[in-house]
Amino acid sequence: MKPTIKIFFFVFSTIIFFSCKTKNKPARADAGTERKWWKEATVYQIYPRSFQDSDGDGVGDLKGIISRLDYIKSLGIDAVWLNPVYESPNKDNGYDISDYQNIMKQFGNMDDFDKLLKGFHDRGIKVMMDMVLNHCSDQHKWFQEAKKSRNSEYYNYFHWWPAEKGEPPYRWSIFDEKAYGWEFNKATNSYYLHYFADFQPDLNWENPQLRQDIYKMMRYWCDKGVDGFRMDALAFISKDTTWPPLPKEYNGNWGLYYASGPYLHDYIQEMNREVLSKYNLATVAEAMGDIPRVKMFVDEDRKELNMAYNFEAIDFGYLPGEYKMPDPNGYDFVKWKSIYAKWDSAFVEKGWGTMYLANHDQPRMLTRWGNDTPEFRDYSSKLLTTFILSMRATPFYYFGDEIGMNNIKFEKVEQYNDVELLTNYEQVKAKGGDLKRFLEGMKISSRDNGRTPMQWDTTTNAGFGNGKSWLPVNGNYKTINVAAQEKDENSCLNYFRKMIRLRKDNDVLVYGKYTLLDKTNPDVFAYTRELNGKKLLVLLNFRGKITSVNTGIDVGNGEILINNYSTPSAGGTLKPYEAIIYQL
Ligand code: GLC
Repeated sequence: MKPTIKIFFFVFSTIIFFSCKTKNKPARADAGTERKWWKEATVYQIYPRSFQDSDGDGVGDLKGIISRLDYIKSLGIDAVWLNPVYESPNKDNGYDISDYQNIMKQFGNMDDFDKLLKGFHDRGIKVMMDMVLNHCSDQHKWFQEAKKSRNSEYYNYFHWWPAEKGEPPYRWSIFDEKAYGWEFNKATNSYYLHYFADFQPDLNWENPQLRQDIYKMMRYWCDKGVDGFRMDALAFISKDTTWPPLPKEYNGNWGLYYASGPYLHDYIQEMNREVLSKYNLATVAEAMGDIPRVKMFVDEDRKELNMAYNFEAIDFGYLPGEYKMPDPNGYDFVKWKSIYAKWDSAFVEKGWGTMYLANHDQPRMLTRWGNDTPEFRDYSSKLLTTFILSMRATPFYYFGDEIGMNNIKFEKVEQYNDVELLTNYEQVKAKGGDLKRFLEGMKISSRDNGRTPMQWDTTTNAGFGNGKSWLPVNGNYKTINVAAQEKDENSCLNYFRKMIRLRKDNDVLVYGKYTLLDKTNPDVFAYTRELNGKKLLVLLNFRGKITSVNTGIDVGNGEILINNYSTPSAGGTLKPYEAIIYQL
């Protein structure tokens, strides 16, 4: 570095250092944790395709969301995460982006987006965009050019294996029927890499030009005023381009190997310097792996991201070696609780976690983690809401769960739309597997269950839109819908609002120390939250039967802050799916 540049750099960083110190006085909420808006926020996830269709084409759109802004505001949430709205051929519903700086035609145009952003901001709601940075669509200009010739200026925006070197070293692909991550391209006589479907070529982050283009694009959205990013498949962006054989420990665990590329964190730190640090953003990564790995994304000292998803709890209870096949014997509840406790302790000193039970890659939480029978749907929906909003982590709450929507449970493969399911179906079929069993499992776990249209009212298509919707509306919309629940003060919807208010009014629910109690209880999730002398006790009976709980705490003098029955249980028992929060 030249001396003048060095001096400039020193003066500049000193100014920045001191201005940050004075601006962000470390207001410690508890040992270890600094207050931040995104720690205190409840994020509501909107899958735009399925939220509200304004033009009758059967697909939700931005104008549709605009027409529901007041509803969203009424929930009391602080931020929304929008699944991808960029131009896309939609083979993976927007996760195959063909133009990062334009809006998908089915969803509207940039003018609609600007209005939507303003509409949210006018209501004090922040907006997080989905950023898909590991791959783009094969229809993106970069790939269209790259695939023409090895001399194309975009050739090195992707990973290629020249065919003259023979077959490429094996790489797995998640959305490929042959589970093979390389696809041959005739014009260049080479194979391109795709960890996801063959229409989702992986971007070559080793190329600094690509990285600069990405940062520029991200700054475009930040300059528009978006408030954060949910980073799709971010853990996979760095690859070892010597393409060594997959290590032995890989053994099908793609999160472990693919999520640990040699320059992963260098790239994220560079992104932080070039983009994230310049704005007041909330960032959350899909970050696979164990605690030490995931902590690297969110440890403040490393200057990378704010939050990460933990997949361990959400993927729990599936049979090993099979695609999302629920264990017919249920899941080990005691172990599941310990996973949450483990991930809570991971972020006590550094970093911050997320709490979610559903999203667009998951089935409906009511079916998977609660009980969607008429007898228990209400209670268990409220119980899950209590759980999500009482943990020490930022809650990400999926649209429709506030009214207790449940899985649609398709009978036939033809009813599904999802590339992931269809790929896996073909794989089971090719191996001569049991397709009936596969489809039974998918009634519980497939992603399309979480993507059916929002149930607004009892009119045609549940008020989602006039045209035939891209996925059918769940047949129970006449009883399960927003309009009906607005009128009922005891509805799931109003319980959700109440629970959000409770979290807002009680810092202890955000920052308070978390302690798991009655750890070996096979039915009840019990924990305390403590902050500055205030102590809350959360009791959640995850079973459809009366159970006993033994926390060792006398709740006799406790005040009930919220509960999902008209008369709460007293003492050591809980009613089916009962949820209670006491202030002790
Ligand atoms: C992420 C998205 C998922 C998508 C995949 C490929 O896991 O959440 O919906 O299919 O990445 O982009």
